[in-house]
Amino acid sequence: MQFFLDTANVDEIRAMTATGLVDGVTTNPSLIAKSGRDLVQTIKEICTLTTGPVSAEVTASDAEGMVKEGEFLRDIADNVCVKVPLTWEGLKATHVLSGKGHPVNVTLCFSANQALLAAKAGATYISPFIGRIDDTGADGMELIGEIRTIYDNYPELDTQILAASIRNVLHVKQSALLGADVATIPANVLQALVKHPLTDKGLAAFMADWESTGQSILP
Ligand code: G3P
Repeated sequence: MQFFLDTANVDEIRAMTATGLVDGVTTNPSLIAKSGRDLVQTIKEICTLTTGPVSAEVTASDAEGMVKEGEFLRDIADNVCVKVPLTWEGLKATHVLSGKGHPVNVTLCFSANQALLAAKAGATYISPFIGRIDDTGADGMELIGEIRTIYDNYPELDTQILAASIRNVLHVKQSALLGADVATIPANVLQALVKHPLTDKGLAAFMADWESTGQSILP
């Protein structure tokens, strides 16, 4: 399973890539706004911090505009992945962009049928928004399972499931259990994955016992 970092904060990305755990980055217009920085500069900088795909989202609402913006974004760096919303125009843009060899992440997916359409249009990634479905009182994980089943039923659909809108560690575990190809994760959730109270307790006991021996490993 691949881990992408879901942020436009370059300091966060720099810190987290040092672990070797980050396989790519996803951004969206809200994350760019939160960063307070220029889109092009930010995407350019992020693309120097990872060799993996960096999703940058178009903001046009018509297919022609999305294609133009997508091609502009792709010129920023080789590892830019064009992010397109799951609308009829977005599907048309996905078809054109993927036909020209550009990787496309189709975002704002909330149903299995939408995921089927995106795959047929040529999406490289489909981004189901788990947390936002949970927010409505439904179960976002059900969607991941449904998409996995549908894509596995039709091996010619090679779109990867990119679990998005991940809010907690359970979302990551369940996405992995259900066979999502990628999870895009906020930095605080990625860091929380390592935590377990028994690890902390066990380590404290090991260190106390080690200190009582008076030894050191290095001469
Ligand atoms: O990858 C999409 C993600 O950024 C949306 O997350 O928490 O705004 O629903 P959220």
